[in-house]
Amino acid sequence: MGKCYPTVSEEYLKAVDKCKRKLRGLIAEKNCAPIMLRLAWHSAGTYDVCSKTGGPFGTMRFKAELAHGANNGLDIALRLLEPIREQFPTLSHADFHQLAGVVAVEVTGGPDVPFHPGREDKPEPPVEGRLPDATKGCDHLRDVFKKQMGLSDQDIVALSGAHTLGRCHKERSGFEGPWTANPLIFDNSYFTELLSGEKEGLLQLPSDKALLCDPAFRPLVEKYAADEDAFFADYAEAHLKLSELGFAEA
Ligand code: HEM
Repeated sequence: MGKCYPTVSEEYLKAVDKCKRKLRGLIAEKNCAPIMLRLAWHSAGTYDVCSKTGGPFGTMRFKAELAHGANNGLDIALRLLEPIREQFPTLSHADFHQLAGVVAVEVTGGPDVPFHPGREDKPEPPVEGRLPDATKGCDHLRDVFKKQMGLSDQDIVALSGAHTLGRCHKERSGFEGPWTANPLIFDNSYFTELLSGEKEGLLQLPSDKALLCDPAFRPLVEKYAADEDAFFADYAEAHLKLSELGFAEA
């Protein structure tokens, strides 16, 4: 299924490039890559392939979507972004939020995820309840990522590796702690930690541990733990798909 990207003006491309530089600076200065990646993902992950509603279309700008339980804490990400947002009023919120996600991965040492501009903002937020529930297992992950979003088993495992960044906050999700010892570095340690079992000070969600018990998921966890290059290649592909759900469809 080929993509058919819209043509944007030379001026818009320049703004994207400059905005990318500003985002690199902000994210490095504030050490806020994890919450920026979570913002981009929670925006895109609402896509529903059947109704073509939701997705990476800037709707996190609405208070109604920020108020969804799954989005607790993401108001902080938007507040951090405000000074840059003000400098680039011509960018769509949709492009801006997805660009922040791509830059978050890049500046923490992860793969370069290609970015294509031209998303248009949708006028209203998606319904609540489309993001995955951390207390559930593989059937639920497939319901959300495959049936709803249209992604693959490989995408599920690769994208779960994003938990190499950041942590859970009791007051936001009810869970507490990081997945890895270096939550500001994007590497394959999420997978090596997952395979090595529970460890003092680190956390594994039920939805993370579920990846170990599934015959299709587990070999991918093992592959990514053993081969960081393979993880980076599959992660970049999956993140690109996530960031373009419902965008530029031929
Ligand atoms: C597989 C299903 C997933 C579940 C159930 C899940 C669940 C969670 C939960 C409960 C938190 C903690 C939020 C908090 O307390 O601050 C979290 C954080 C995070 N998630 Fe996920 N997640 C999933 C997939 C993803 C994906 C696909 C990405 C990105 C591609 C991602 C990126 C992140 C990041 C970067 C954080 C850290 C945020 C911070 O440190 O502020 N997650 N996730």
